[in-house]
Amino acid sequence: MDRFVIRGGVPLQGVVRISGAKNAALPCLAASLLTDRPVILENLPAVRDIQTTCHLLEMLGAAVEQRQEAPASSAAGCRQIVVEARNIKSVEAPWEMVRTMRASTLVLGPLVARFGHARVSLPGGCAIGARPIDMHLKGLEKLGATISSEHGFVEARAKRLRGARISFERITVTGTEDLMMAATLAEGETILENAAREPEVEDLAQLLTQMGAKIAGAGTSSIRIQGVARLEGARHAVIPDRIEAGTYLAAAGITGGELRIENCRPDHLLAIIKKFREAGLQIDTPTPSSLHVKPNGVLQAADMTTEEYPGFATDLQAQYMVLVTQASGTSRIKETIFENRFMHAPELSRMGADIRIEGNCAIVRGKTSLTGAGVTASDLRASASLVLAGLVAEGETVIERVYHIDRGYERIEEKLRSVGARIERTAS
Ligand code: EPU
Repeated sequence: MDRFVIRGGVPLQGVVRISGAKNAALPCLAASLLTDRPVILENLPAVRDIQTTCHLLEMLGAAVEQRQEAPASSAAGCRQIVVEARNIKSVEAPWEMVRTMRASTLVLGPLVARFGHARVSLPGGCAIGARPIDMHLKGLEKLGATISSEHGFVEARAKRLRGARISFERITVTGTEDLMMAATLAEGETILENAAREPEVEDLAQLLTQMGAKIAGAGTSSIRIQGVARLEGARHAVIPDRIEAGTYLAAAGITGGELRIENCRPDHLLAIIKKFREAGLQIDTPTPSSLHVKPNGVLQAADMTTEEYPGFATDLQAQYMVLVTQASGTSRIKETIFENRFMHAPELSRMGADIRIEGNCAIVRGKTSLTGAGVTASDLRASASLVLAGLVAEGETVIERVYHIDRGYERIEEKLRSVGARIERTAS
C-alpha cells in the first residue's frame, strides 16, 4: 500500500491543470449501457474509480477500449474511453464491485431500462455515512419496476418502464442520475421533482441528449424526460472536476501561494469562490476556463455550511476545514449532507489543529501551527485534506492508505510537485 511523505512549508507557485470530473464520468460510463452503439467519452480523469467502472462494464459484457487522447487536445493522463455495450451477458453488479465503489449502483437504472432486469449488490454503510439507495429504488418502483431484495442484492424487473412523476424526499445526486437514465427508455413522460442541480447531472443529460434522449430542465430542480424507444451512440467530453479545482484553490490559500488553475469551470465554483474570498483569498477569473488565486492579506475565519449545488459542496468541506485552521478567529463548519463526514478532524487535531465537534458542526479555532505527523486517510476527500495539512505543517507528514486519494485525484503528488510541493509517494 502506498503512502505519501510530505515536507511542508513551501508556498505553491505555478500552473495546475484540472482533469475531467470523476463524478461526471461515472454516470456517463453507466449511460453507455443504454445503447448497443459505441459511446465515446473524452476528458476522463486517470483515477481508480474510472478503472473500477470499466472493469464492471466488462464484467457485464461490454467492450471497453481505453485510448490516450492526443497530447495537443488534452493534458497527459487524460483518457478517451469507448464503450460498446452490444453483447451484454450479465445484469449483475456484484458485491466486490459495489464494495469498492458505491457508484456501481448507477448501472441499476440503465440495466433495468434496457434489459428489463438488474441485480445489484446493496451498498453497506461507508466512512462518511449510512448512504442508503432507497430513493433510487422508490423511483424505479414508480417507473413500474418490481423491486425485491434478498441475500444482500436488490433486483429490479420491468417489461418496459413507464414514465411517472417522481418527487425526491431529499436531494440525491446519483439518485437523480440513475432515474434520469432509466426514464430515457421508459414509455411516456417522467418528471423528476426536487432533483439534484449539480453540474454533473447536467453533463450526463448532455450526453443522453446526444444519444437521442429527450430531456428538459437538467440543472434545475425539475427535470422532464420524454421516453424514447432506443438510444444511439455519441461522443462527449466530460466537464472539468470542480472539486479538484477547489482543492487546488485551498492548497494555494493554505500555503500562502499563488496558482493559476487551468481547464476548469469557474461558473461551477461560484459558492466556493465566494467563501474562499470571504476567508481572505484573492481569486480572479482571467478566462472563462481558468482561475488565479493568491493571498489577500491574512486569512480570516468564516463560517460555512455545506449544501447541495449551487451551495458549498460537501466534497470540499474537509479541505475548507484545513484552510480555516490557518485563519485567525473561530470558524463554524456545518455539515448537512452526510452524518459522519468529520473523520479528518481527529487526524488534523493530531497535527495541532484546534477542532471541536458538536453534532454536525465543527468549530475550528485558528490560527494554529500544524506539525507533521503520521496520519491515516479514511475516505477520498478526508485524504485530500490531510495532504493539504501536510503542505503547511512543519516537518514531515506521512499519510497512509493513499489508495483513497487515487480513487478521485489524478496524479495529485505530481501536480503538487510541479508547483513546488515536497511530496513523495513511497510503498509502505
Ligand atoms: N440518501 C438517502 N437515500 C438515497 C440516496 C441518498 O438517504 O436513496 C442520502 C445520503 O445518505 C446523503 C444524502 O442523501 O445523506 C445525499 O446523498 P447523494 O445521493 O446526493 O450522494 P451520492 O449521490 O451517493 C454524490 C457524489 C459524492 C458527493 C454527494 C453529495 C458521486 C459518484 N458521488 O454521492 O461524492 O459527496 O453526491 O454531493 O457523484 C466524492 O466524490 O468524494 C463523493 C463522496
